[in-house]
Amino acid sequence: MTVNYKEEVFYSTQELSHMWKVPQEQIKKIVTDKQFTQHQINGGEYIQKHDLDNLVDELLSSLGVSHVYYEIPEFLKTCTSPWAVTLVKMYQDKFTCPASISPIQGDLLRTLVGDIAPKNVLEIGCYTGVSTVWLAAGLEQVGSKATVHSVDLFVDPIMPVAPSHCGYLDNPLEYAQKSVDSAQLSHRVKFHKMHSIEMGEKVDELLNESIDFLFIDGDHTITGCVNDFRLFYPHVSVGGYIILHDIYPEVCAWNGPRYVIDNFIKKSPHFELLEIKTSPKNFGMAFIRKLGRDKKLEFFLQATSKLSDTIRDKPIGNFIRKRILRSGINT
Ligand SMILES: C[S@@+](CC[C@H](N)C(=O)[O-])C[C@H]1O[C@@H](n2cnc3c(N)ncnc32)[C@H](O)[C@@H]1O
Repeated sequence: MTVNYKEEVFYSTQELSHMWKVPQEQIKKIVTDKQFTQHQINGGEYIQKHDLDNLVDELLSSLGVSHVYYEIPEFLKTCTSPWAVTLVKMYQDKFTCPASISPIQGDLLRTLVGDIAPKNVLEIGCYTGVSTVWLAAGLEQVGSKATVHSVDLFVDPIMPVAPSHCGYLDNPLEYAQKSVDSAQLSHRVKFHKMHSIEMGEKVDELLNESIDFLFIDGDHTITGCVNDFRLFYPHVSVGGYIILHDIYPEVCAWNGPRYVIDNFIKKSPHFELLEIKTSPKNFGMAFIRKLGRDKKLEFFLQATSKLSDTIRDKPIGNFIRKRILRSGINT
């Protein structure tokens, strides 16, 4: 359990063991061998918060797992625009890969936003703001006056959970805001720290217009993704775009986006769908254009939301192990 002691935050080795799914003895051994300072509080062994990042490094290395970073393409490295310089810096942080979109995927979003020039962008799930910077850079490039509204729970702190993110981050909202500031894009971005369901209830009041570009990259479970689709799809303008990330469960190990595509998008004549491969790993993205209102689908989604307890995710195995094996990016 976390304790605050003399204005410092401490984590018990028992809690870390539970969180990282590693035997407590293994953590204790690293703590002793590598001479981390242990604190005895209320009879338990505790590690100070600022030691966690180094502890994770040692732990991962003892498991034979090394940090993996996205390769930065030449065009991004050499670009001197503040957004590019900021992104290069963000991609050097341990918690970025593979939880955030890759530079190649980000550039695709940036150019799309530049081409479409939407009057607004709504992003569900921004994590530390990498995709947000890419989206805002696209708007900025075409001199759009639009805003990227970005919703996330911004759960503090981001704990290392290999392999989905391997670094520790104290305050993701602060990090995201600082990144957007250093990208000189703060006039283009508004962060909303809330659950997407809460955003769904406020979307009319907050945006005051329909959504032209909706990027869904939040809760990837079936229940979560169906909920986000149900809440926001009716607010997308006719001709507007919905982008889903992580659409290939066999690679990304999440099945929510696939479920939405197969059960709603493909079954309705009111969408155009393009699935594309992504790099460096094919987690996949779907570009969906809303051609018209599908009242039957809207009615169905509203009706089933009342029965959402019956839409159950089927766990697809040990997420962490599968992701290591399938992505091959942490071995
Ligand atoms: C895969 S990460 C997003 C990565 C980000 N789009 C990027 O490319 O940099 C998923 C994020 O969704 C957020 N999230 C999950 N469920 C959510 C919900 N119901 N409402 C708001 N945010 C949610 C998580 O906090 C997490 O930061």
